[in-house]
Amino acid sequence: MPRILTGITPSGTLHIGNYFGAMRPAIELQAGGDAYYFIADYHSMTALTDAAERRAYTRGIALDWLACGLDPAKAVFWRQSDVPEVCELTWLIGTLTPMGLLERAHSYKDKTARGIAPNFGLFAYPVLMAADILLYDTHVVPVGKDQKQHLEMTRDIAIKFNQTYGETLVVPDEQIRDEVAVVPGLDGQKMSKSYGNTIEIFGDEKVLRKKIMGIVMDSRTPQEPKPDADRNLAIQLLRLVAPAGVAADYENRLRAGGLGYGDLKKALFEHYWTFFAPYRARRAELVANPDYVEQVLKDGATRARTVAKAVLGRARRACGLE
Ligand code: ADP
Ligand code: TRP
Repeated sequence: MPRILTGITPSGTLHIGNYFGAMRPAIELQAGGDAYYFIADYHSMTALTDAAERRAYTRGIALDWLACGLDPAKAVFWRQSDVPEVCELTWLIGTLTPMGLLERAHSYKDKTARGIAPNFGLFAYPVLMAADILLYDTHVVPVGKDQKQHLEMTRDIAIKFNQTYGETLVVPDEQIRDEVAVVPGLDGQKMSKSYGNTIEIFGDEKVLRKKIMGIVMDSRTPQEPKPDADRNLAIQLLRLVAPAGVAADYENRLRAGGLGYGDLKKALFEHYWTFFAPYRARRAELVANPDYVEQVLKDGATRARTVAKAVLGRARRACGLE
């Protein structure tokens, strides 16, 4: 049975790009039986340095995953930092990772291009991510398109390790869902916590309605036919949250002319709000039960750590550390 693993960084509030790009595929895959999902709190240290904020985001993300259907009876779910073995594997593989490979990493290049002064952590980010994956003998990593390069680096690093020290690490495959490869944000760019263009999965109804009604469209009149209706941002988002056929129907109406952007955005909000309603209800139950959530993460860490210790032991022996 292939082992599936993915992580999500607690550096902000989760949005529907995270949901459709990473969480839903992961949750669908947990039924298969060997799923490992974690909250990448070590990774969040490259993005934020407020301890209380990190704790709050980590807790929020745990609630979000459980509310959206992560089932701890099926998937192992833990906090990355509860398994510190990952830091040791980062060192082992880091000594085999070429500088050139890391210098080409988008995560590093994009941030430095935006004027963020890089530190060692940001530079080493892909090595820590490779360690996350390799520490659990992972076969498949379901992620959004933006993580493709990290996965390629992970494969390169695993291959190099095996060539250097003998067959030790499992070389993983990525799994990128084409239909939701990149969920666009409110401004049409990739939806991202760091771009301030998100629609949150959970949040205040009024605020979210305002965000969606505030999407900027072009100045064509409602009557005008819109031959480019398929590329309309609201249509693209509607395809994700509305039942099959609904988005196609709106798209046809937009193309023919006669549908105003205000009505389209209203429909988008309603479908979005309805789509996440059951998860909102479940999240409210979980918020009232903090001990349960903490116990789930603790149990997950115990299970994850058993695997991590075995794989790290193998890697240490291969390197001649034992
Ligand atoms: P962000 O860009 O908001 O900081 P992360 O980098 O923490 O999001 O991404 C967490 C997961 O969600 C990753 O697997 C990533 O590929 C996926 N993801 C993030 N944004 C999108 C998006 N707009 N469309 C599809 N998947 C996304
Ligand atoms: N870097 C990923 C992101 O920003 C999060 C992450 C950390 C991850 N470790 C991982 C994803 C391991 C998949 C596998 O989205």
